[in-house]
Amino acid sequence: METVVSGIRSTGKLHLGNYYGALSNFVKMQEEYNCFFFIADLHSLTTHPTPGDLSRTVRQVVVEYLAAGIDPEKSTIYVQSDVPQVAELYLYMNMNAYLGELERATAFKDKVRANPDNVNAGLLTYPVLMACDILIHHATKVPVGKDQEQHLEMTRTFGNRFNRLYQVDYFKESFAFSYSDKLVKIPGLDGQGKMGKSNGDASCIYLSDSPEVIRKKVMRAVSDSGPTEPNQAKPESIQNLFDLMKVVSSEDTYSHFDDLYNNCAIRYGDFKKQLAEDMVLATEPVRSRIEAISADDAYLSKVIKLGAEKAAASADRTIKEVREIIGLKKI
Ligand code: TYM
Repeated sequence: METVVSGIRSTGKLHLGNYYGALSNFVKMQEEYNCFFFIADLHSLTTHPTPGDLSRTVRQVVVEYLAAGIDPEKSTIYVQSDVPQVAELYLYMNMNAYLGELERATAFKDKVRANPDNVNAGLLTYPVLMACDILIHHATKVPVGKDQEQHLEMTRTFGNRFNRLYQVDYFKESFAFSYSDKLVKIPGLDGQGKMGKSNGDASCIYLSDSPEVIRKKVMRAVSDSGPTEPNQAKPESIQNLFDLMKVVSSEDTYSHFDDLYNNCAIRYGDFKKQLAEDMVLATEPVRSRIEAISADDAYLSKVIKLGAEKAAASADRTIKEVREIIGLKKI
């Protein structure tokens, strides 16, 4: 059976981008594959959360994984820092990751541009740690959104380079995965770019948002004064709302509003109302389970303990083999 690995950073509540890019695929994949889903708490250290925020957000992601339907009997759910073998592998893999290739990574360049005062080494070597998350379990499929595609390419580069350096056929190649024919990029409500916490709360629909909050955010989403000619190309802000409708609404609803747009008969108020109602429906199954799961501390710690044991067992096999391949065998 093929092995699947993926993770989400512990930076707060999960949004529709995390859901459609990653989490919804996790839930389906656990029926078919040997799955490891983790909370990337070490990755989130690049932005220096307070200790209180870090432990709260790790817990939040575990709760939302479970609320979305990840079943700890079928998948291994664990916290990245509970598996120190990953950090050890990261040390080894850093020895053959090169400054030039790390500096060229798009996500790194974006982060440098957005926050030039915090260009730390952890940010630079973020893709190496991510590669280790995947390589440690010999995964071949990695469910992620479009923004992570380059990191998967880098994972293949690092794994292949290790194989060449030590003349072994050890690490497998892994590929970004989505059940839809393309990797997903969910846009935000701010008229530009993808949905992401760094673009502000107003641009994100969180899985835990109440129906009232969802309605308010969608009604305030950036739009324009409407088409003036039939079949006019959609500006980015409108295209984004249609892209969101494509994932949360039925095909009929989508074509109904698309036809209205093309005939210059669309009323954005109605369009947004429908979009908001469909988002409320799409998020309801997860939202409705969050509270009960969140209240059950005993269950949460059981899940995390079991996951840590299973993940560490798998990681331990790898790290022992890696030490031996490298030549770190004790006399
Ligand atoms: P993070 O927390 O930034 O994102 C978690 C997942 O959500 C997806 N995602 C999106 N997909 C579509 N549209 C969006 N607007 C959107 N926003 C977020 C991301 O693509 C990702 O799948 N580096 C990873 C965390 C990680 C990881 C790994 C993933 C660390 N190690 C190993 C897979 C395998 C990340 O992007 O986290």
